[in-house]
Amino acid sequence: MRVLITGGGGFLGQKLAHALAARGTILGESISAMELIDVLPPAEVDANFPISVHARDISDPALLVESFSHKPDVVWHLAAVVSGAAEADLDLGMRVNLQGTLNVFEGARFAGNCPVLVYASSWAAHGGEEPVTIEDGIELNPQTSYGTQKVIGELLLNDYTRRNLLDGRGLRLPTVSIRPGKANAAASSFMSSIFRDTMQGEASNCPVSRDFPIWHTAPRTVVNNLIHAAEVEGNAFGTNRNINLPGRTDSVGDMIDAMTEVFGAEAEERITWDSDPVIEKIVKGWRAYCKPLNGQRLGFKTDQSFADTVRWFLEDDIRR
Ligand SMILES: NC(=O)c1ccc[n+]([C@@H]2O[C@H](COP(=O)([O-])OP(=O)(O)OC[C@H]3O[C@@H](n4cnc5c(N)ncnc54)[C@H](O)[C@@H]3O)[C@@H](O)[C@H]2O)c1
Repeated sequence: MRVLITGGGGFLGQKLAHALAARGTILGESISAMELIDVLPPAEVDANFPISVHARDISDPALLVESFSHKPDVVWHLAAVVSGAAEADLDLGMRVNLQGTLNVFEGARFAGNCPVLVYASSWAAHGGEEPVTIEDGIELNPQTSYGTQKVIGELLLNDYTRRNLLDGRGLRLPTVSIRPGKANAAASSFMSSIFRDTMQGEASNCPVSRDFPIWHTAPRTVVNNLIHAAEVEGNAFGTNRNINLPGRTDSVGDMIDAMTEVFGAEAEERITWDSDPVIEKIVKGWRAYCKPLNGQRLGFKTDQSFADTVRWFLEDDIRR
């Protein structure tokens, strides 16, 4: 099995690459080669099969020919500019999240072997007048350019699947917390930094109140779900290949309490509570409650507690 990861230098791309390297198989067969592409060359990953890393911009269709001429069997399309960046720069978001996604799907078409293609859509697909609790089959109503670009990708994924150009599976990822490294341009960035930075000894601002609810999932869980997405029988999704990925709802305050339970009280003391109208406007438009019955039926997993997430962060990611 040949696998390709776009956005392979990013947070989830690197975690997925390491998980696949450790596993060595996908769809019941050995992985024979893996390619990671990103705007800058992704960090190298060790495995007992060859892994190549390349600087390739998905908004340039010519560069994709190189990646798809190898006829990957499984593609994870994770490259994107995140919500805050796509909102701040419409042209950039359209170029990467919309045109770049179309280029990746066209790459799969060019390959001609109908690869399994796992597409990272987003919870930002939901918003506006949608009900408080999101159920499957609801009309999508994104309220950001990022969410809109992701939803257009979902429709293209369905159509390219219907035409047997690829075998698509789209996951609307909840906010993935706790993200390691540095704060990024996602509007939800604070949902990681109030845990990550404070456990690493730094201050962090929370722009929403303690009772603000968040639909979220842990990095370990989402990586397992990204792998599972490739292995589920495609037809089991139905004609809409995009699902609300299971996650869990907790208030910011409950998540902080879970951090305190696992890590101790000093991290919470480093949190400041200054409101930020720009972030607040975006994240208050997101939904926090979901009944992801299709995702559960298809075997996607959810987290049991945020305390687990904190423990996994301490095991996998904390900068010491
Ligand atoms: N992390 C989350 O909370 C979350 C939530 C919902 C959806 N998602 C989606 O999951 C995917 C992965 O997210 P992540 O958290 O790893 O983000 P990330 O920003 O860490 O990774 C995305 C990668 O895409 C790369 N990229 C951007 N423009 C590119 C281009 N033109 N060509 C090639 N690569 C390009 C970036 O350099 C980056 O390494 C994204 O599609 C994101 O929209 C993430």
